[in-house]
Amino acid sequence: MTRPSYYITTPIYYVNDAPHIGHAYTSVAADILARFQRLDGYEVFFLTGTDEHGQKIERSASKAGVPTQDFVDGFARSFEALSSLLNLTNDMFIRTTSPDHHKAAQALWTRIEERGHIYEGSYAGWYAVRDEAFYGEKELVGGKAPTGADVEWVEEASFFFDLSKWQDKLLAFYEENPDFMGPSSRRNEVISFVKSGLRDLSISRSTFGWGVRVPGSQTHIMYVWMDALTNYISALGFPDEKAPLFTRHWPNVVHLVGKDILRFHAVYWPAFLMAADLEPPKRLFAHGWWTNEGQKISKSLGNTIDPAHLVETYGVDQVRYFFAREIPFGSDGDFSDAAMRRRANSDLANDFGNLAQRVLSFVAKNGGGVVPTPGAFLDEDKALLAEVSSLLDKARDHVKVQALSHLCETLWHGVGLANRYVDVQAPWQLKKTDPARMETVLYTLMEVIRRLAILIQPITPAACAKMLDQLAIAPHKRTFADLETSLVPGTTLPTPEGVFPRLA
Ligand code: MSP
Repeated sequence: MTRPSYYITTPIYYVNDAPHIGHAYTSVAADILARFQRLDGYEVFFLTGTDEHGQKIERSASKAGVPTQDFVDGFARSFEALSSLLNLTNDMFIRTTSPDHHKAAQALWTRIEERGHIYEGSYAGWYAVRDEAFYGEKELVGGKAPTGADVEWVEEASFFFDLSKWQDKLLAFYEENPDFMGPSSRRNEVISFVKSGLRDLSISRSTFGWGVRVPGSQTHIMYVWMDALTNYISALGFPDEKAPLFTRHWPNVVHLVGKDILRFHAVYWPAFLMAADLEPPKRLFAHGWWTNEGQKISKSLGNTIDPAHLVETYGVDQVRYFFAREIPFGSDGDFSDAAMRRRANSDLANDFGNLAQRVLSFVAKNGGGVVPTPGAFLDEDKALLAEVSSLLDKARDHVKVQALSHLCETLWHGVGLANRYVDVQAPWQLKKTDPARMETVLYTLMEVIRRLAILIQPITPAACAKMLDQLAIAPHKRTFADLETSLVPGTTLPTPEGVFPRLA
């Protein structure tokens, strides 16, 4: 039986500077979804990488006085290092300066051109290098881009994509695919943007050279967004449409993006693909932005957040959990040291960590360090086991719509039920009054902890791995299919230790 495919992407990150919280956030979110689907039996392809062309990068390199290729190589390495830092399980890391990507971007261009959707002209208008975006006069706010970026006047020979002709087809596409964009508030925003009228898009630049050459031209390079968006298919082997990854996964993709780059993904990208007679992507989800202690994050304010600093200060699982749990995926939210510590201490150390720690150390002390042998299960035992098993279906529903905070809430509901069960059943009292019942209660709890640790792996993989080690669960017995099995009484257990330290 072939496994269903699940293809998930992050944006590819600009290499003009070091990674920050925004990059870490999308990558962790994508990793949680990728890990969940892998454990659930999907054939997952998780892609991340770097966007290495364009005027912004060329200028940053020249300002640094470093050859552009050396400059991008350096920052690309720090983005690649995010994978080990954040425990990401990406299957590939794509760089747009790679020859395969150049070939793919040119092939997409040629397909669009052959179908008559590209013409030559000249562009005269505003351009924001920071956003790598063209803006119409009417979009400017106080002489700046609506994003606050500085704009400059550009006049140059340019190729154009006939975007204005795609307005109705795009609107029909959104209509026919109501699940294309999440969250729904964003969908309305995009639809009204398209309804307000689309102008043809300048898709080449001719006044600098750091990019993918336009096929057949000596002077033009491709507009960096057209080049960058192509990464999602060049990684799959495009233009070879028979490439195994391409046939397996395209267009069954989930693109995670920040709200600021939704337009490129929701409007330009499907239009390019339709113009090339390729399928548009299945799903796009736009997340919100973090502030830092209530303040907008910006380089000029000097309050950017370094992911390596976060991991050193709080721990990788703690950061991953915080990202997923603190704000509903899709909304804006605030990063603060106090909120981060609160989540790590209350949800991880006290609720989940302490549950495992008190049960496992009790078993080590009073149960001979082996999995207890249960007697007949009472209704309350069966109810708890059934409740925890039913979490999987609820979790799946949340994963389907990228509802990461709801995923956490659902799983922690199980943690809460288990903690209440410990308090009510009070195994430490049963030790004196009914040792046989104590064994059943402890067995039930260990089985519940096993199931919770399996389910929570995508969010806090390192801690769950330690917990499952302490339950003597073999590494290949940790998938969602293994939720159906049960602990074997009498199995020897290693010495337990806490997996979520309390942060001071
Ligand atoms: N290179 C383009 C994407 C091309 S995809 C084909 C790009 N790169 S980026 O490095 O500037 O930004 C990457 C992501 O970081 C964006 O999704 C953006 O939303 C996100 N963030 C930047 N600052 C952020 C916060 N303060 N909070 C959350 N995410 C933020 O855009």
